[in-house]
Amino acid sequence: MIGRRHRRDDTTGREIAAPTEIPVVAVVSPKGGNGKTTVSSNLAVGLAHRTDSVIIDLDIHFGDVEYALRMRPAHRLDDLVEAGNRRDPMTMLSTHPSGLEVLCAPNDPVAADRLSVDDAFAVVDRIVAAGRPVVLDTAGGISDYSLGALDRATRVVMVCGTDVPSVQAGRKLLDTMRRLDMDLDRVDLLVNRADAHVGLSVDDVETALDRHAVITIPEHSSLAAGMNSGSPVTESSPRSPIAVAFRHYADVLLGIDMAAAVTGRR
Ligand SMILES: Nc1ncnc2c1ncn2[C@@H]1O[C@H](COP(=O)(O)OP(=O)(O)OP(=O)(O)O)[C@@H](O)[C@H]1O
Ligand SMILES: [Mg+2]
Repeated sequence: MIGRRHRRDDTTGREIAAPTEIPVVAVVSPKGGNGKTTVSSNLAVGLAHRTDSVIIDLDIHFGDVEYALRMRPAHRLDDLVEAGNRRDPMTMLSTHPSGLEVLCAPNDPVAADRLSVDDAFAVVDRIVAAGRPVVLDTAGGISDYSLGALDRATRVVMVCGTDVPSVQAGRKLLDTMRRLDMDLDRVDLLVNRADAHVGLSVDDVETALDRHAVITIPEHSSLAAGMNSGSPVTESSPRSPIAVAFRHYADVLLGIDMAAAVTGRR
């Protein structure tokens, strides 16, 4: 868990953790379609309900944060790269109704391909430097963008399904991170479609990846419907168990509620 210093909530007498680190959260999964954007968008809205937060779509060729959040961005990542130092990137983000600031991926995959990774991350770094929680959605696979996101992340959310290919790919990703001397203690396992009953249990996934799941998300039509309507469940059904799970995890990331750290775990 992120570093915290503790104080006492006078109203409940409960230990409250104050964050000592602003979370930069990379949401990764080596396989496509595992639920990265679903998780990113719900988590980012959960964070935005607490504090000013940003989501950046680093799935630069086929990013769909804009669909998940029903955004019509005036500016995208390539526009911010183009603007360079002439403009403050924070003034070029698009605002979601939740207050979340959104930076969408380029609209044109060819334009995305022409982007220099260094220039793109110069923009990301300036946004991170603004000191707000940032969620980085990524594409499947290991690319310069996903590695750049992993390099910058204070927390890594590894999204894994309960199917063998997903778990095996997860093992390879962890192994790659280990070989790149990345700190694996930062990696939080999120098991998506945890109740899919396709052969592996959450325990099996945890054993195979040698870590506990900090959050498990069931297969639920509200998540798919939320993606299609551009309204994450954290926004459309904030009291639903799935929204509560995302909010609890957002609180853990922010160091707001020690009790959430316990209930958010299995
Ligand atoms: N727990 C779930 N229950 C039901 N539907 C889900 C769940 N998780 C994800 N989905 C649906 O699965 C599809 C893929 O999810 P999503 O786009 O979040 O995956 P992704 O990892 O971002 O994919 P890509 O690698 O293509 O970017 C979407 O239609 C989404 O709504
Ligand atoms: Mg995606």
